[in-house]
Amino acid sequence: MKGSTLAMNKNKFVYTAFLAIAFAATFSACKDKRSTGLEYARNMYDPIAYNPDQPNKNFNDGKTAQLPPAHTKPVGFTEYDEYPNTKEGYEAAGVSMVNPLPVDTVNLAQGKHLFTVFCSPCHGDKGDGQGHLVKIEKFSGVPAYQTGSSSRGGNMVDLTAGKIYHTITYGVNNMGSHASQISPTDRWKVVMYVQQLQKGQ
Ligand code: HEC
Repeated sequence: MKGSTLAMNKNKFVYTAFLAIAFAATFSACKDKRSTGLEYARNMYDPIAYNPDQPNKNFNDGKTAQLPPAHTKPVGFTEYDEYPNTKEGYEAAGVSMVNPLPVDTVNLAQGKHLFTVFCSPCHGDKGDGQGHLVKIEKFSGVPAYQTGSSSRGGNMVDLTAGKIYHTITYGVNNMGSHASQISPTDRWKVVMYVQQLQKGQ
C-alpha cells in the first residue's frame, strides 16, 4: 500500500517536472520577441567561414565581400561584352556568332527540355506563340517562330543562331533575360532547338 503511494508520487513528480520544463522551453522564447527560441545545431547559424555581409579584419576596407582582382575571370565564365544589349550588339551577334555545339540528338533533347521549362509557357511547345500564358491571356504579342515577324525587323523564320542567343541572354521588350537561369552552353542547346522549331520540325 505504502509502496504504491510512493510510486504514484514519483509518477506525479516526473509528470510535474516534465510540464515545468515544457512550459519553460515554450515561454523562454517570449522574452525576446525577435528570438526564434531554442536553437538546434547552433553552428549552422554561425558557420566557421565568413558570411559575405560580415565585417572582416583581414581586408583594408573591413568587408568580407571583395571585388575580384582586376583582369581576372571566374572559372567557367564566358565573356559576352563584345555583343552589348543594343540593336548593334544584336545585329553583330546575328552575323558573327556560331553555335559551338554539334547538332546531335543529345543536344537537341536537352535543348527541347530547357525550351519546355523556360520558353514554352509563352512560346508554346511548337514555338507557335500559343503558350499557356498566352492562352489564359496573361501575355500577348509572342511571335510564332515559323510565321511571325521580329519587332527588330525581318521574319522570325530567318532569325540566325546569334540573334536567338542574344535574345535569350538579354531578352527583348516584354521577354525578360534568361541569362541567370540558363548557362551559356545550355543557351546554345536551346538555340539549336529553336532553329529546329523555325523549320516546323
Ligand atoms: C514571359 C514570356 C516569354 C518567355 C518565357 C520567353 N519569351 Fe521569347 N518572346 C516573348 C515575347 C513577348 C517576344 C516578342 C518581344 C518583342 O519583340 O517585342 C519574344 C521574342 C522572342 C524571340 C524573337 C526575338 C527577335 O529578335 O525578334 C526569340 C528568338 C525568343 N523570344 C526566344 C525565346 C526563348 C529561346 C525563350 C526561352 C529561353 C523565350 N523566348 C522565353 C515572350 C517570352
